[in-house]
Amino acid sequence: MGRLEGKTAIITGAARGIGKGIAERFAKEGANLSLLTRSTSLDETLEICRKLGARAEGMTVDVSDPVAAKNSFDKHIETFGGIDILVNNAGITRDGLFVRMKDKDFEEVIKVNLTGSFNLMRAAARVMIKCRGGRIINITSVVGQIGNAGQANYAASKAGLIGLTKSAAKELASRSVTVNSIAPGYIVTAMTEVLTDSAKDQLLKSIPLGRFGSIEDVAAAAVFLASDEAGYITGQTLSVNGGMAM
Ligand SMILES: NC(=O)c1ccc[n+]([C@@H]2O[C@H](COP(=O)([O-])OP(=O)(O)OC[C@H]3O[C@@H](n4cnc5c(N)ncnc54)[C@H](O)[C@@H]3O)[C@@H](O)[C@H]2O)c1
Repeated sequence: MGRLEGKTAIITGAARGIGKGIAERFAKEGANLSLLTRSTSLDETLEICRKLGARAEGMTVDVSDPVAAKNSFDKHIETFGGIDILVNNAGITRDGLFVRMKDKDFEEVIKVNLTGSFNLMRAAARVMIKCRGGRIINITSVVGQIGNAGQANYAASKAGLIGLTKSAAKELASRSVTVNSIAPGYIVTAMTEVLTDSAKDQLLKSIPLGRFGSIEDVAAAAVFLASDEAGYITGQTLSVNGGMAM
């Protein structure tokens, strides 16, 4: 029996990378899934999850739009009848030195990474409170914990997400709803593919475990936080970073 047998989850940004990996692991563990994407096709993720025996439905939505996010949540409830787990994974970067950063690049990153997570958390929490249980998992970043030159907008959005996680955890704890973050370090995905070889070499030196993380490393942490075994853990940030920040 899977660790998420019979649970229903929403995963944002599930078309590729970490979100796709979490969807696959959740499907393997017995969860049924609503998968959200902004534009990239969900076909491959849906096919894999269904082959694993999950009921999986896809939706194309911009999570930063409060109305669209709420509509997608309502559609999930209509289809599946409930929500046990929400994983806010959708995220973007618009890198640049902050003194030269355009308003648009700052605002867009905050809107997707922070407001987008808030939009779905609020909708999910209202239902989870009534059901007296649920798991909310927000994918933040090591960059939100320690900062990064060239990523002021991204770091602010991810640090904000940690604060949002802790506040929501305090508000929802009495209803047995847990809210936690996962802070990946450098994970091999399209988002990190753009780094130059010399930047990658430099980064590797800062990782005590001596390798970049894998999508599976993050997915395993998500399964744990979503599972019944993590019932006494809330308001925490689980770092999956090879030791690069302790
Ligand atoms: N890759 C890393 O090293 C790393 C490290 C730390 C944190 N993270 C975080 O993990 C998450 C996933 O990263 P990834 O590397 O897999 O990224 P990715 O770019 O491969 O995938 C991001 C996904 O988010 C979706 N998305 C983007 N904007 C959206 C929106 N407005 N509405 C709905 N969906 C939207 C995209 O369609 C895509 O499916 C992000 O939140 C990222 O910040 C990644």
